[in-house]
Amino acid sequence: MSISRSISSAQTEIHKDLQKQVERHLEHEFRKPIAAHTERAYEKIMDKVSQDPRPVIFDACCGVGESSRQLAENAVDKLVIGVDKSDFRLNKNYPNRKDNLLLIRADLNDLYRLFARDKVLFSQHKILYPNPWPKISHLKRRWHGSAVFPQLVALSKDLELRSNWLIYLQEFQAALKILGHESYIKQLSIETPLTPFEAKYHNSGQPLFQLVSQLV
Ligand SMILES: C[S@@+](CC[C@H](N)C(=O)[O-])C[C@H]1O[C@@H](n2cnc3c(N)ncnc32)[C@H](O)[C@@H]1O
Repeated sequence: MSISRSISSAQTEIHKDLQKQVERHLEHEFRKPIAAHTERAYEKIMDKVSQDPRPVIFDACCGVGESSRQLAENAVDKLVIGVDKSDFRLNKNYPNRKDNLLLIRADLNDLYRLFARDKVLFSQHKILYPNPWPKISHLKRRWHGSAVFPQLVALSKDLELRSNWLIYLQEFQAALKILGHESYIKQLSIETPLTPFEAKYHNSGQPLFQLVSQLV
């Protein structure tokens, strides 16, 4: 069993620059060119979505795709799309035989912008255990501190995040508030872990948290 230490950070509360950072990204368009592999992944996703009428659960940062696989098994009336930037992680999964599951490599910094450009709206959006980037200087690497945050938020009205670092979710909640969205955070009680990171943290006795938002 893999044991994990809880997050250690010099940061003990919401980052003092959060508001400035989120507002900057609302004011300035994110212009970095889109990577070709993510363009191709976007086309594959839209192709699949256009041929499948089921509501989409988008599983961002899915790692090895375990959560996507479980979601697809438990909700055959939904189409599950799991995305990770790491081919290595995605390829660790066994072959996908579910017709309601698509696991694909893409960089979400680009993919969220392509979705927003075409006003794509999915039924549910999950970001389970994103890299916390706990150093104070790493605010911009967290999703709510990133330039793509407005486009990330636009993807679905039903958004869920999970983390073992409460401050990450509190910051995300504050960032959502700046965009006019309410959310709530609660401590999770885990029975069957949904992801390998969830299993690792849970087995190490760490408290795990969930943010849920019904976006306006
Ligand atoms: C801590 S792991 C969590 C994986 C999985 N959700 C779990 O809980 O087991 C975070 C994942 O986010 C992925 N990731 C980070 N930045 C990304 C990006 N820009 N685009 C796509 N995936 C990204 C990483 O490759 C990694 O697999």
